[in-house]
Amino acid sequence: MRMFHSTRAAISSDACTAAFGYRPLIPTPRSRVGFGFSMEQSSSPLFFKQRQRQQHYQQLTCQASREVISTSKDVALVHGVSEMIVGVLGGGQLGRMLCQAASKMTIKVMVLDPLENCRASALSYDHMVGSFDDSATVEEFAKRCGVLTVEIEHVDVVTMEKLEQQGVNCQPKASTIRIIQDKYLQKVHFSQHNIPLPEFMQINDLEGAKRAGELFGYPLMIKSTSLAYDGRGIAAAKSEEELSSAVDALGGFDRGLYVEKWASFVKELAVIVARGRDISILCYPVVEIVHSQGTANVKWKIRECATEVAYKAVSSLQGAGVFAVELFVTRDGQILLNEVAPRPHNSGHHTIGSCYTSQFEQHLRAVVGLPLGDPSMNTPAAVKYNILDEDEGEHDFRLAHQLIGRALTIPGANVHWYDKPDMRKQRKMGHITIVGPSLGNVERYLANMLKEGSLDDKSADAKECPSCHSCNK
Ligand SMILES: Nc1ncnc2c1ncn2[C@@H]1O[C@H](COP(=O)(O)OP(=O)(O)OP(=O)(O)O)[C@@H](O)[C@H]1O
Ligand SMILES: [Mg+2]
Repeated sequence: MRMFHSTRAAISSDACTAAFGYRPLIPTPRSRVGFGFSMEQSSSPLFFKQRQRQQHYQQLTCQASREVISTSKDVALVHGVSEMIVGVLGGGQLGRMLCQAASKMTIKVMVLDPLENCRASALSYDHMVGSFDDSATVEEFAKRCGVLTVEIEHVDVVTMEKLEQQGVNCQPKASTIRIIQDKYLQKVHFSQHNIPLPEFMQINDLEGAKRAGELFGYPLMIKSTSLAYDGRGIAAAKSEEELSSAVDALGGFDRGLYVEKWASFVKELAVIVARGRDISILCYPVVEIVHSQGTANVKWKIRECATEVAYKAVSSLQGAGVFAVELFVTRDGQILLNEVAPRPHNSGHHTIGSCYTSQFEQHLRAVVGLPLGDPSMNTPAAVKYNILDEDEGEHDFRLAHQLIGRALTIPGANVHWYDKPDMRKQRKMGHITIVGPSLGNVERYLANMLKEGSLDDKSADAKECPSCHSCNK
C-alpha cells in the first residue's frame, strides 16, 4: 500500500506549517462565498465581479432555479429538490460519491458503466450496464435522463455533440469535453484565452521531438494527447538520448504526442471551480498538492493569482458543473495552468468533510440548474490522504485495513472506502479526511496515523518518488 504524501489535502489558516498534500490555503473556517477568502480586501475588477456574483448567490440561496421549478399552475409541482434524472457517464468512485450527495437531496442519479458491479452501482437510482464510449448505448442512456453529465472525460464526445444538437441537455457542454479530452487541444484552447501555460508543441516524429528539445531544453515533458490520466500519459526525457525511450514508453507517435517545456515549479496547486447553469462561478479554497514532505507557505497573493487563473480558465469553457484546475507555481511566483478536469476531482474530496457544500453536491446543483452552494470551509483545518495501492494482493488490503482501523479512532477523521473488488497498482482505493481546529492539529493526527507499523516505511519510499508524475492525486 503506497501512502503518498501527495495525496493529502490540507486546508487551514495556518500557511506556515509543514506541507502534506492538498494544503488548504484559505484563511478562516467560514470565509466567503466565492473564492473562499475575504473579497473585500481586494479592489481588483475580478474581485468586484466576484462580489456581485456573491450578492447574486445570496439572493438565490433560498430559491430553486427557475429552470427546474416553475410556479406556473400548468406545470406539475416538483415533489422534492428536483425531479430531473441526472445521467452520469461513468460509475467509478466519483460517480459513487455523486450518488451519495444525491441521496441527501433525493436527486435521482443514473450511471452508465460497463462494469456490472461498478462502484456507483449499488448507490445509484439506476445503473445501465454498457460503455460510455459506445454511441448507441450513450444515445439509449440519454433518453432516460433529464441531464447528461460525466465523471470521466474519456467518453464518446461525438455522440454527445449529436445528442446536444437533438436537444439533449449536456452539462458541461460537449464542446468542453472535446477540448479537455485532448490534452493538446486543451493547451491550444487555454493559450488562445491567454491563460498562462508551460510552452508546448505537437510532435509527430523523433526529429520534431529533437527540435522541441533544442527549443525548450531538458528535461523535456512528453505527453499523450488522449486517454492520459493518473500519470499514464506522460514521460520525461532528461536528454536527447532519452527521447526515443520516452516516446516508446508512451506507445509511439501514433498515439498522438506533444511536448511541454519543463515547468520548474516550486508548488502544485489545485482549485475546484463550480459553474452554475446561470453561469455564476464560485471557487473553492486553493489547495496545495505536495509530493513530498516539505514546507508549504503559499502566500495570499499566490492564492489570489491561482484562483484568478482557475476562474479565467473555467470561464472560457461551456456548460455547468464543477471543474478541477491543476496549477504550477514557478520559482518567480508565476502561476501556470497544468490541466483542467471537467468534473469532480480527487483534489476536491476534502470538501465532503470540510466545506459547506461538497464538490459532489455542487456538481449536482450545477448540472440540475439549482443555485450553487457555499464552497467555503466549515472547519478551521482539514487534511486529506489517499489510500493507494502499490502492490497487488492481500498484503495491501491488510495495510489498508490497519490504516482505516487507526483512522476510526481519530477525532475528526472520516474514512471513505471505494469498495473496489481488487487491488491494482496505482489505484485509488479510498481516502481519509481529518478535520480539526488547526493545521498543526490535523497533521499531527495524520502523522500518528501513518507512524505506527509498516505503513510509515512505505510512505518514506513515496517521499523519494523521483518524478512523482504518477503519484496519485
Ligand atoms: N510541464 C511539466 N513540467 C514539469 N512537471 C510536469 C509537467 N507537466 C506535468 N508535470 C508533473 O506530472 C504530473 C502529472 O501530469 P499531468 O497532470 O499532466 O498528468 P495526468 O496523467 O493528468 O496526471 P493526474 O491524473 O495525476 O493529474 C503533474 O502533477 C506534475 O507533477
Ligand atoms: Mg494532472
